Amino acid sequence: MSTEPRRWQTEADRLANASLEKGDPTGWFEQLYAAGESGAVTMAWDHSEPHSLLADWTNAGAVDGTGKRAVVVGCGLGAGAEHVAGLGFATTGFDLSPTAIRTAKSRNPESSVDFRVADLFELPDDWRRSFDLVVEIYTVQALPRDLREQTVGAVVDLVAPGGALLAIQGVRAPDDDGSGPPWPLTRDEIELFSGSGLRRVALEKLRDAQGFTDWRAEFTRG
Ligand SMILES: C[S@@+](CC[C@H](N)C(=O)[O-])C[C@H]1O[C@@H](n2cnc3c(N)ncnc32)[C@H](O)[C@@H]1O
Repeated sequence: MSTEPRRWQTEADRLANASLEKGDPTGWFEQLYAAGESGAVTMAWDHSEPHSLLADWTNAGAVDGTGKRAVVVGCGLGAGAEHVAGLGFATTGFDLSPTAIRTAKSRNPESSVDFRVADLFELPDDWRRSFDLVVEIYTVQALPRDLREQTVGAVVDLVAPGGALLAIQGVRAPDDDGSGPPWPLTRDEIELFSGSGLRRVALEKLRDAQGFTDWRAEFTRG
């Protein structure tokens, strides 16, 4: 008799609490993806389509990445990176989790995306300020609030002169007790992206296709 995998969300809470208690804010991501790969739980953040607010933004702006470089931060299973590559960008998608990156590659065997295992807090020097488009969806909110400035700073550092950053993050609800993950962002926290030489171009509060209320914020360097 086959057993249905458990829902990943419950496992995420358990693994995240154990990891955070040990003072390790990121160790649980790989554990969670590995549990998904083994079939013990459903696969976390398992989307075959790009985030609706990313797709709406690229469609509305008729974004053309020909001759440009893009990076997708914390790309998970790769749907966002595939979408960005489809616009013509030479695209890097990176994630801390080797299992996520292996799964992204196996799901997209013909992909032009350079899928890499990399830690946002220890990125290669030659990635600094070198991407024309940086896409960041839900990675900042997946890390604890006391890391927020460091996390946002590392994302901002990827944007090339004249380049753009698109950030999609949950909106912190008034009754949020702070016991993440996730730790959705306040308006002031979204404004942190405007530091280090970036300028805000747009900030919207929108309902996404899954019914969540998100910030969609666009910034530019230059
Ligand atoms: C909430 S998930 C979102 C995944 C994907 N962006 C999406 O929207 O489906 C956060 C992702 O960030 C990755 N991540 C967390 N900390 C990271 C770090 N320090 N460096 C790179 N990736 C990280 C996790 O492994 C996970 O895939």
